[in-house]
Order: sequence, then structure tokens, then C-alpha cells
Amino acid sequence: MTKIAVIGGAGFIGSHIAEEIAKEHEVVITDNLDDYYSPELKRRNLQTLLANPNVRFIEGDITDLDLLRRVIDPDVEFVFHEAAQAGVRISVEDPFKPNNVNVLGTLNVLKASLDAGVKRVINASSSSVYGKVQYLPFDETHPTVPLSPYGVSKLAAEHYCRVFYEVYGLPTVSLRYFTVYGPRMRPDLAISIFTKKLLANEPITVFGDGNQTRDFTYIDDIVRVNRRLLETDAADGRVMNVGGGHRITVNDLIAHLREITGSESEVVYSNRQKGDAEHTLADTSLARKLVGYRPEVPIGEGLSRFARWYMQNL
Ligand SMILES: NC(=O)c1ccc[n+]([C@@H]2O[C@H](COP(=O)([O-])OP(=O)(O)OC[C@H]3O[C@@H](n4cnc5c(N)ncnc54)[C@H](O)[C@@H]3O)[C@@H](O)[C@H]2O)c1
Repeated sequence: MTKIAVIGGAGFIGSHIAEEIAKEHEVVITDNLDDYYSPELKRRNLQTLLANPNVRFIEGDITDLDLLRRVIDPDVEFVFHEAAQAGVRISVEDPFKPNNVNVLGTLNVLKASLDAGVKRVINASSSSVYGKVQYLPFDETHPTVPLSPYGVSKLAAEHYCRVFYEVYGLPTVSLRYFTVYGPRMRPDLAISIFTKKLLANEPITVFGDGNQTRDFTYIDDIVRVNRRLLETDAADGRVMNVGGGHRITVNDLIAHLREITGSESEVVYSNRQKGDAEHTLADTSLARKLVGYRPEVPIGEGLSRFARWYMQNL
């Protein structure tokens, strides 16, 4: 059995990756159960994970290098780095925390991984690094002009990953995720907020006119590409887009969710929020070429699965 560390493994994406790889491997998770959103949800994720004897949890903060040296010991072969202060809007309110966690924290993960002789670090990056749209879909050579402190911090983290590969020889891959959704998703994300309001028949607030578009990626597609990176060095030193491959407007997203939930909530339009991207759409051909990535779950199917999970669990 290979030993694998999942940093931020109590969160949405990290818990899914940990659950999948723990079917075959030994997994050590670390997370500080940060209260950006309910730590109770993270404890619930951990409870499910810890039912598998292959999984161990060490609570701690990635700004603490000593903690990471304990988690990423010399037996660890692969590291999935999913810990971050996520969220564009909160980064506009407080740019210091995302910088601390996402930049210093990533540097610590890389240093501990290098010193432990890890075979590969897979880093969660974000479409937020692109920011200002010059053309769509975004390919990996599209200029990176982040619109928020969060985007800046994710871009800096990517560069540290590349430099650790090029300068120190630590294999790293950064995956630019495009709005990820599915069971256990972060409650601060639009699909989760809209579903909650629709089920309660409460009004939904849309920031802007609802014609902004997003490329949404179902969690299973994200897990699959991460898992694949245990098997191939084809993407070492690279960044790759991981998206759903098509975009829909926020208004269409609401229409889908309305149909699934049978809700009659009204939609209230409010001012656009600073830092929000106007459009996102991933060109995923590089990930397809290098590691065979193809998004498999279309938005209608993914939303139905999410809504079903939401109604059963929350
Ligand atoms: N969900 C998305 O749509 C999306 C899109 C693009 C990129 N990403 C990136 O994917 C990764 C995972 O995101 P997510 O949606 O699962 O978020 P999440 O908030 O659910 O998970 C992040 C986890 O990191 C932990 N964490 C935060 N600060 C920490 C610290 N200082 N020390 C240790 N642990 C800490 C949190 O407690 C949480 O459990 C992040 O890097 C995020 O930037 C997510």
C-alpha cells in the first residue's frame, strides 16, 4: 500500500479525493477545521472517512511547517494539496488570510514534501488565476490577470509549485479547477446557496444580471483526474485546466435547479460583487492530451445528483 497525504482532507474536494484513494492506499489527512464555514460539516466528512481503517487524521495548520513535517513523513509518496482559504469575496474583505494560508501554506507543503522525498505533489489551483477575459475558452497560455486577492494567492502558489519542480526537482502538478460542485460542496458556493433557498421557497439573490457564465465541474471528474496523477508523470511541472468543458449562465443554472426542486422562489437581482469573474470556460485539451482527462458528468445530471444528496443530508 502506498502512503498518501491529503492536505485539507476534511474539506469538500479533499474529502472526496481521500475517500477514493483510501479504497486502495494508506491515507493521512491534515486539516485545521477552519471556521470559514461550519467545522461541523468538516467533522462529518472526517467521520465518514475515518470509518475506513486506512485513514488517519492529524489536526493542524499548514502555516506550521513542523506540523507538515509530521504529516508528510519519509514514507509518504504522494501529496494532494487541497487546503486553502477559498472564496473570492472573503479575500476582497481580508487579503491577508488567503495570502498566509495559500502562499505560505503551499510553500510549507512543498518544502516538507521535498525534504521527505515525495514522488509528486498535486496542487489545487483555480480558474481565478485567469481573471480578466481576453478570449474564451481559457487555455493554459491565456494571460493570468487575477481580479481578486484570492486569485493572486493561487497564482503565487502555482509558481512556487513550478519553481520547486524546475529548481529543486520536486515533481508537482497544478490543476486549475473550474467551479466545482457536488455532494458535500462548500455552503458558500452559488449552487449550494441557491438550492437551499429554492427548497425553502425563499428569494434568491443574484449579483449582476445573471448573464455571467460559469464552467461548472462535477466533483467525480475532479477526483478522477487527481487519481490519475498517481499513475503518470506526464504532467510534472505543468499547470492544467480541469473544467466541465462548457459554460452556462447563472440564470440558466437557476432554471435547471428550479425544475429539479419544483420551487417557485423569486429571483432578486443585486449589484455585481467586486472580484467576481464575468465568464469562465476551460479548454481542457491539454489535460486530455497529457493524462486522458475528459469531463464525464454533464451539468443537468450533476445538479440532479447534488440536489438529491442535499435533500437527503442537509
Ligand atoms: N470548490 C471550488 O469550486 C474550487 C474551485 C477552484 C479551486 N478550488 C481549490 O480547491 C481546493 C479545495 O477547495 P474546497 O472547495 O474543497 O474548499 P474547502 O474550504 O471545503 O476545503 C479546504 C480545506 O482546507 C482547510 N484549511 C483551510 N485553512 C487551513 C490551514 N491553515 N491549515 C490546514 N487546513 C486548512 C479547511 O478547513 C478545509 O477543510 C482549494 O485549494 C481551493 O482553492 C476550489
